[in-house]
Amino acid sequence: MNKPYIFVTRKLPDTVIERLLSFAEVKMWPYEDVPVTREVLLEEAKKADALLTMLSDCIDKEVIEAGQNLKIIANLAVGFDNIDIPFATERRIAVCNTPDILTDTTADLTFALLLATARRLVEAAEFVKAGEWKSWSPLLLAGYDVHHKTIGIVGMGKIGQAVAKRATGFDMNILYHNRSRNEEAAQMLGATYCSFDELLKQSDFVVCLTPLTDETHHLFDKEAFKKMKKTAIFVNVSRGPVVDEDALYEALVNGEIAGAGLDVFYKEPIDATHPLLTLKNVVALPHIGSASMETRFAMMELCCRNITSVLNGEKPETLVNK
Ligand code: DGY
Repeated sequence: MNKPYIFVTRKLPDTVIERLLSFAEVKMWPYEDVPVTREVLLEEAKKADALLTMLSDCIDKEVIEAGQNLKIIANLAVGFDNIDIPFATERRIAVCNTPDILTDTTADLTFALLLATARRLVEAAEFVKAGEWKSWSPLLLAGYDVHHKTIGIVGMGKIGQAVAKRATGFDMNILYHNRSRNEEAAQMLGATYCSFDELLKQSDFVVCLTPLTDETHHLFDKEAFKKMKKTAIFVNVSRGPVVDEDALYEALVNGEIAGAGLDVFYKEPIDATHPLLTLKNVVALPHIGSASMETRFAMMELCCRNITSVLNGEKPETLVNK
């Protein structure tokens, strides 16, 4: 019998791929830092029984249609907005993601970004390295306190709750807004549900963790930033298109909000000449929410287990399209 064929869209460590090699033919895109080309992706999809994909790969109708033998798409991310889920479901292709195992790691990064933006850590570190530190002075690189402030979490899923848990350690007042109320979790964390507008008005830190959907596209627009406090700090660790970046830039330049910590962007990688990157009060990271060694290895292994299960006719651990 022919071995199943698996295509991995980025070079992953050989130790991770080993478990797949015991029963399948595996081909990997040879580069770690360069995304697979569209041409190669389409060519490989034609032959593949399984695809192990990155969040930066656009797995649309064309790719799915090309995959005549395709049985599973295992995405190395909790988010799956890069995949046409309805069409994959129609074609009876399992789509799997990597939830739970990245929750704490992503919450840690979210809180680190919030702290770094509020206390101007990146600016301060660059200041020292550039030899600009001439003397201690009373307001040198003074930022904003985090403790005892109000944090507003938009998207109270697992990562949102893990961020709220961290906020309790800073004695913060916790507000949240979500599609549906999660009273049990909220009670445990001492978080209060409020409308989106109310959250924007009251929060010192507005943290965006909502998934990207048609409803959340440009959720943070001109009007949303206008409703925030002038001292508010906006943090985005969800997906770039949830934010209207032109509106965010205007809000930062016009002093409508005080700063932004951004791990995600409309176009990734963001162009180095992008206006947002010229602002001192923006801390920008290259989409590293779940990027710890432990978590990234656990995510890769989960993808491999899901592929193994589906190709053996078993139920995968983390199926998106039930
Ligand atoms: C994901 O997995 O969707 C996150 O964006 C990772 O950082």
